[in-house]
Amino acid sequence: MLTDNDIEKMRLAGQKWLEIMRVLKSHIQIGTNLKEIERIAEQESAKRGVIPSFKGYQGYPAATCLSVNEEIVHCIPKDYALKNGDIITVDFGVYHQGLHVDGAVTWGVGEISPRNKQLLKGVYAALLAGTDAIKVGGRVNDISTAIEKILNAKGFVIFKPFVGHGIGHRLHEDIFIPNYSIPGSTPMLQANMAVALEPIAGLGEDDTILEGDNGWDTKAKSGQPVAEFEHTVLITPQGPEIMTPLETLIDSIK
Ligand code: MF3
Ligand code: CO
Repeated sequence: MLTDNDIEKMRLAGQKWLEIMRVLKSHIQIGTNLKEIERIAEQESAKRGVIPSFKGYQGYPAATCLSVNEEIVHCIPKDYALKNGDIITVDFGVYHQGLHVDGAVTWGVGEISPRNKQLLKGVYAALLAGTDAIKVGGRVNDISTAIEKILNAKGFVIFKPFVGHGIGHRLHEDIFIPNYSIPGSTPMLQANMAVALEPIAGLGEDDTILEGDNGWDTKAKSGQPVAEFEHTVLITPQGPEIMTPLETLIDSIK
């Protein structure tokens, strides 16, 4: 369980996360190269004295995971310039004074298709539904079921291997939180525990995942777009406290 001191540090890390994501958002434009977004994430982290959580995590070589269109998660920033109509997921974690926060947003570039807009709205709605399902004494499966319900209702495909997780002193703490309900008993949600919920879903029906040569990149075999929204949530007796607040980053899909 996290101490009050840990929680304060995570709140601070969450503020830094939001500041950095705001800067990244301002660069999500037609023509911006993914390598440039990565460079800015590094620069803005250094400026604030925080460490990008992902760099070096199990050998991951970058500060950000940048996944475009049919790409799913864990994509290493590549030499690619954003085009009108693309959707891009920026997944980014901050490590500060021994604690991590983790979050992700999918943004549209220029004018995106109505279908893509529905995808963004729907996956974000799933994140909120999962968060609303959090209660001290509840179960992980409450979250999973709430997320799945929305994603299924919208007709999106769920990529089952990618799941949410406990977070704190380590980026991935023991508990994992699937985006689909699972039979049997799941861990109990306890006060002062933090979790990163990360619904990931795509258009199209095929949930086959293709892996890239670099051992990290993943994409949907269907070629259909995929979106992800993630935030770090502290479980408290008063309800969930979002530590990486996204609302101000997603005005375009509201
Ligand atoms: N939010 C992603 C996750 O929790 C971040 C992956 S970090 C990586 O899975 F280093 F593994 F790429
Ligand atoms: Co995560």
